Amino acid sequence: MRASVVDALLSTAKPWRAKFDVGKPLPFLSKHVISAEQFDRDSIQYVMRYADLIDGGLKLSHGHSLLSGKVQANVFLEPSTRTATSFAVSMMRSGGSVFHISAETSSVQKGETLEDTIRTLESYADVIVLRHPTLGAADVAASVATGNVPIINAGDGGGEHPTQALLDLYSIHSRFGGLESKRLHMTLLGDLKYGRTVHSLAQMLSHFPNIELSLVSPPNLGMPKEYLQILQNRNVKFSVQTNLEGVLSDTDILYQTRVQKERFTDANEYAQSKGKFVVTPSTMAMMKKESILMHPFPRVDEILESVDSDARAWYFKQPAMGIRARMALLGLVLGKEPPKRL
Ligand code: NCD
Repeated sequence: MRASVVDALLSTAKPWRAKFDVGKPLPFLSKHVISAEQFDRDSIQYVMRYADLIDGGLKLSHGHSLLSGKVQANVFLEPSTRTATSFAVSMMRSGGSVFHISAETSSVQKGETLEDTIRTLESYADVIVLRHPTLGAADVAASVATGNVPIINAGDGGGEHPTQALLDLYSIHSRFGGLESKRLHMTLLGDLKYGRTVHSLAQMLSHFPNIELSLVSPPNLGMPKEYLQILQNRNVKFSVQTNLEGVLSDTDILYQTRVQKERFTDANEYAQSKGKFVVTPSTMAMMKKESILMHPFPRVDEILESVDSDARAWYFKQPAMGIRARMALLGLVLGKEPPKRL
């Protein structure tokens, strides 16, 4: 994959980013999941309801067999602990199997292009989960896919991470009794420029008028204009800040993020940007009793370990929500709706 290929693709229409129309039967079947842009309120709620069933009426928390015989390619060309294993476990708990490809041990080492890798894996797998260091890589992969093997973007450089956003929403849904049950003030904190999780999350949150956003970051790591534009177009109530204290006492959900060291081209800029917002017990003391603190992880130093014992620390609960959300999504793209109307 060449940089020019990515640039050309990003500036043109992207038919592989189909919307999920839940008014139609099997709305996710064989569709790629590349961007949060593909989701609206109804399709997000559809995933939430499916995820609820996994732990609810269907008693599927110890696994089910809806995806028996299905094979998943986990193509992780950039480091991952949670996302790679979460996708693998989600497929295994759904009755399917998984094989793994890494940059270090695959033909990527010999110079093979992403396009050739994808065209090959289409013959082996029923679904391809891709993580790649380059923004736009998931679009490149989806644009060359020829069959009906869905490609799921598990993070493309500083671009997007739509399934992390789904699991974050599912965590909120579980904690607050639904996404629309009450007014919620969510504060996205840290590296909003390079953080792909917040790029996808902000877009998905924009479909819920009861959710107000505060975007807090160092001035050089603000949310990119294109995402602010989406919030504006959808009349989201949001503010852009460089100071956390002012919004803390009204915040229901504080979403902390890591400063994305690997995306900086200037090591000095990284050194100056990190450590600006560290969540400590005193930060927690300023937050509401019923609020929660989320983080997609990994954390480096932006939440002190002394915060972990606070009942509002939600980051070790998010991974379990990820299994439910991803089991739901895999079931949907592979056309296995649960035996109950959603
Ligand atoms: C994030 C990622 O890879 O974008 N982690 C994750 O998938 N849970 C966040 C990060 O790396 O900071």
